[in-house]
Order: sequence, then C-alpha cells, then structure tokens
Amino acid sequence: MAKKSTLFVCQTCGAAQPKWLGRCPACQSWDTMVEEPMAPAAKGRPAAPVHKTPLTQALDRPDQRRPTGIPELDRVLGGGLVAGMVVLVGGEPGIGKSTLMLQTAQALGADGGRVLYVAAEESARQVGLRAHRLGLAGEGVDLLADTALEPILQAMAADPHDAVVVDSIQALKSEELSSAPGSVGQVRQCAAELAAAAKKAGCALFLVGHVTKEGALAGPRVLEHMVDTVLYFESEPSMRLRLLRAVKNRFGATDEVGVFEMGEAGLTGVVNPSALFLAHRPISAPGSAVCAAMSGTRPLLVEVQALVSPSGLAMPRRQALGVDQGRLQMLAAVLAIHAGLDLGGHDVFVNVTGGVRLSEPAADLAVTAAIASSLANRPLPAKTVCFGEVGLTGELRAVGRSAARMAEALRQGFDQVLTAPGKTTAPAGLEVLKAGRLDQALGLLW
Ligand code: TYD
Ligand code: MG
Repeated sequence: MAKKSTLFVCQTCGAAQPKWLGRCPACQSWDTMVEEPMAPAAKGRPAAPVHKTPLTQALDRPDQRRPTGIPELDRVLGGGLVAGMVVLVGGEPGIGKSTLMLQTAQALGADGGRVLYVAAEESARQVGLRAHRLGLAGEGVDLLADTALEPILQAMAADPHDAVVVDSIQALKSEELSSAPGSVGQVRQCAAELAAAAKKAGCALFLVGHVTKEGALAGPRVLEHMVDTVLYFESEPSMRLRLLRAVKNRFGATDEVGVFEMGEAGLTGVVNPSALFLAHRPISAPGSAVCAAMSGTRPLLVEVQALVSPSGLAMPRRQALGVDQGRLQMLAAVLAIHAGLDLGGHDVFVNVTGGVRLSEPAADLAVTAAIASSLANRPLPAKTVCFGEVGLTGELRAVGRSAARMAEALRQGFDQVLTAPGKTTAPAGLEVLKAGRLDQALGLLW
C-alpha cells in the first residue's frame, strides 16, 4: 500500500478532500473528484540556478528535425521529430496504433537511432510476434514490458534514447497514486512525469491512448493540453485506408493528413492518395463531382457526391458529411437564388468519399456542381475537375495553390478544369474553363 500523500481535488471548483467522494461538498457537482499527489512544500528549498537560452541557439531549423523514416508520419509531425517533443497518438482500439508505433520505432532504429518501446498492454513476446509478422529486424529498439511508471522513468534516465514509445498511457500506474490505471488522475500524473523526463533527456516521446467512439473515456482528451502534438488515427471502413491527422501541433501545421494502407505486412504509406480516393468513382453517374482540394501542402483529388431527392418535409433536409453543414445550407441557398435551381421541395445530401473532410471554400464549386448534376439527373463530364469558392452573390472566387491543383488533375489523367478567373496559366494538356459566376460555371459543364 502506497503511503497516503495524495488528495482528491474537484476538477470543477478545486476543492480538496482527503477521500474520494461521489459529489463535491463545495460545489455539489457529481463525479468530479480526481486523485492528485500533494504538492511538496516549496519553502526552505534552495533556489535553483536559472538557465537562460539565447533564441539564436534555440531556433528550430529544418535540418535539426529527425525524420522518423515513415514519410507519412513526418508529414503530419511537420517534418520529423524535435528533441523533447511529446506526441499523443489517439485512436479507437484496433485501428493500428501499436503497429504504427512499432514500425516507427524500427525505422528509427534501422537509421541508427535508439528507441525505448514500453509495452504496457502486451508482453515482450507479443510485441516480438508482431515485429516478426511485420518483418522487422528489431535493431536499435529496447523493449520494456511494464505497467509501472517508475521503472520507465529509470530506464529513460539511465540511457540516452532518440525516442520513447509508451503503449499505452492508460495502462500505466504511478506508485504515488492509489487510483486504478486509466483513471484521470493516473493518466495525467504518468503523462506529466514522462513528458518532464523526455524534455530533460531531449528525446521524443510518443504516448499511445485509446479513444472510444464517444471519445469521452478518461484518457487522451485530458492529455491534449499537456502534450505538444496530438495525432488521431482514423479509418475509412470500406477501404483499408488509415488517416493520421494532427489536431494540435506546436511544431507544425494541423491541416496535413498522413494516408496509410493496412495490409498483411502492416501499414504502408500511400504515395498517390488521389488515385485511391478516386478508385471506386462511378463514371457517368449523376451527382458525382471531382474536387481538387489541398490537404495541407499536398494537392488531393476527391470525389464529392450529392443526392437530391423530393422531400415531404416542410423544412427539407440539408445533410453534409465531409463538408461543413452550414456551408452546405449556404450553397443550397445560393444555387436556388443565383442559379435558379428548384431545391425548395428537395432534400439535399452531400458526402465526400474516402472519409476525407473538405474544410476549404475551394470545395464549394464541386459541391454545387454535384448538387446541380443530381437534381438535373445528368452526369458531369468524366474528365473534369472543379475548384473555386462560391460567394453569397453567386460569384466565383479564385483560391490559392491553383497551379498545384491543376498539376495534380493532369497527373491523375483529367483533361479539363473548371474554376474561377485567375492568373494561373494552365499546364499543357489541360483545358481550363473559367467562369465568373456560378450559373455560368454550371452552364459550361453541360
Ligand atoms: P493494432 O496496431 O494492434 O491496433 P491498436 O494498437 O490501435 O489497438 O492493430 C490492430 C489491427 O490491425 C488488427 O485488427 C490486425 C490488423 N493488422 C493487420 O491487418 N496487418 C498487420 O500486419 C498487423 C500487425 C495488424
Ligand atoms: Mg495497441
């Protein structure tokens, strides 16, 4: 039994109690008490010397990033690992977090790095079996199968590592707290101590955390503000695709998406995601449009589908998946007013295939084209790609990175682009249709 040096603190009002209570006696909220270690008395301690670092020395230069050897992971991290960075890798059970982490550890190890892989949920033998299945050689990776925090901290302090992987943070237990592994108090305490140790040792730290479908379970969510980077691993059920997204990144952009395919030999980066997203596209089906979107710095062609069907409702439905719901409502109104589409008695459903989320206004033109195509029951030209922003007065606006979008359209075998007037010159082999207004653009498509 650990000695009692903890308090239960209400997460709403901060009141502290020596024992756990279902309801906070101070603010009356239910189930808010979390075990925390008592703060050590600060008085009487000698003042620690202050270390200052000139910014000139601390500048993050691209050449100081260490590539992980997994290019799709490097893309979401912002170019590679930074010494002392703490990365939370969240996702539903079975999505492939352990696989990704083991492959990353091995790639770093094969590149001459030293990695500590903490298996808190599996035995060393189980990890070894997975490594064998993945065809990994195993060099440079030390395994530690333990659920206690203290030996992990010792191992981190004893030897220098380039990266430490903890799989998972919910399985760890600190001796300082009496609560069970996976509780908010444990998860937070273990993550804080590991992060401090990683910053001190200058190694990158990966924390794996499970999220349930509801995303509410004690775990990754309570850690998001404590780490530098939060990556979520998601799947597209009909394909074997796995999307790795950064939802927070202190060392890079958050709009990058890493695309992987899960196969017999683990995860492989998808070099040409556009081809995969368009693979199952129905040719000459009404309601299907191809959008040239930007996913971070990478141009990506995706299919936008729309279904317009007669509605019996007084307020017809506008249902969006993969595009913003409010944006769809706005675009439906613009189509009705400025392009004369009779959408008043129709439900409108829009979906972006492949589980992709289009958050940029550049997707507007493809969304409106798909809706118009479904309502008219006429397919769009099979080799045409759309991009452009639609304004409230029905005008089309040019968007950034037009050249990259056009180049990707050409690379994927399309021969026509429909967009807003702009300065970008078309690459050879690509016909560019430019329209200043939405009704003109739809007219050009047919
Ligand atoms: P895993 O990495 O254990 O998921 P997590 O750690 O997120 O819970 O991967 C689980 C799934 O991946 C499992 O259902 C089996 C599948 N898988 C493959 O299809 N191929 C492989 O090479 C491996 C290792 C796993
Ligand atoms: Mg796992």
